Amino acid sequence: MPTLKFAVLAGDYIGPEVMTEALRVLDHVGRLESLTLQPLAADVGGAGIDNHGKALPESTLQTCEQCDAILFGSVGGPKWEKLPPKDQPERAALLPLRKHFTLFANIRPGLLYRELTAASPIKTERIPDGIDIVCIRELTGGLYFGKPKETTVLADGDVQAVDTMTYRKSEIERIAATAVAAARSRKKRLCSIDKANVLETSVLWRRTVADYVARHAPDIELSHMYVDNAAMQLVRSPNQFDVFVTENLFGDILSDEMAVICGSLGMLSSASIGAGRNSLGLPFGLYEPAGGTAPDIAGKGVANPCAQILSTALMLRYSYGLERAAARIEAAVRKAVTGGTRTADIAFGGASVGTRAMADAVIAAL
Ligand code: IPM
Ligand code: MG
Repeated sequence: MPTLKFAVLAGDYIGPEVMTEALRVLDHVGRLESLTLQPLAADVGGAGIDNHGKALPESTLQTCEQCDAILFGSVGGPKWEKLPPKDQPERAALLPLRKHFTLFANIRPGLLYRELTAASPIKTERIPDGIDIVCIRELTGGLYFGKPKETTVLADGDVQAVDTMTYRKSEIERIAATAVAAARSRKKRLCSIDKANVLETSVLWRRTVADYVARHAPDIELSHMYVDNAAMQLVRSPNQFDVFVTENLFGDILSDEMAVICGSLGMLSSASIGAGRNSLGLPFGLYEPAGGTAPDIAGKGVANPCAQILSTALMLRYSYGLERAAARIEAAVRKAVTGGTRTADIAFGGASVGTRAMADAVIAAL
């Protein structure tokens, strides 16, 4: 009976609410699939600051290091907004975790079920079958981490801030490999998004991705697009993409755009994986919903737990190689939602259920 040892970093506001429900679903799948679950909870984000004085406490990092994967909730919110930016939960917990474990590939599936097209701001006639695309975002390079990164007072008294965008060829090659693998498991179409008409890093990006695909993946149909055009194409006709790959900041922006056209942030999961292998020889990864802490609805029991539940499916797939169990969760979420059980964010003003009842419906569908 495989033992799944994973860190549970629920975080703040709705983080723990949706995490509780996702763990209940996982528990159920564990029984159906004869898996032994060993979740190790630890504080992160605002909870880390409040209980340990730090968004990413040493003890939390140690817990993660003992595990084969991290199931992450979400961090941050108004309570910690007055802290200096570099100490705030998002920047001081999530970014160091990504860097520490070299989680360079962020995989965000953009999936909108046909039955939910009305939840998308895009006209239904443009997406009659829903949306099914994947964003692969580079996660440990670019403007987020490049040095120098500082604010200085200049000799003339003016203040100047600088962020640095750097990419090495090797960093581009490894994310290209991830993107190719994702495209191979789907329609074999890959679009690389950059700003090669202006940025040096993008020129290298485009050349490196093109070389990589020519050498290692001639079976993949590769195209290139400028990021401003891509932002537009994504709302015009999202299904023209199958898999797209892009650098860190562009991916941050485009993935939020993708989330909104897919109806609700409450439905989108993500996987961040990298170079590291876990004790099973599979990718160590961090799995999190796309939605954030949603302080406005926290404590009300109405948050949509689906993104967190779907993130557990990605964890089973990538870090444990349990494809059948993962697919089972995904099918159950689809069945529950398309069957009519919906939280307020995807109910279009119709009858809605709370967080717990949504998870109950998923468990029933299992
Ligand atoms: C995301 C988030 C993070 C990012 C923030 C919270 C630091 O927006 O995961 O997309 O910018 O990467
Ligand atoms: Mg973001």
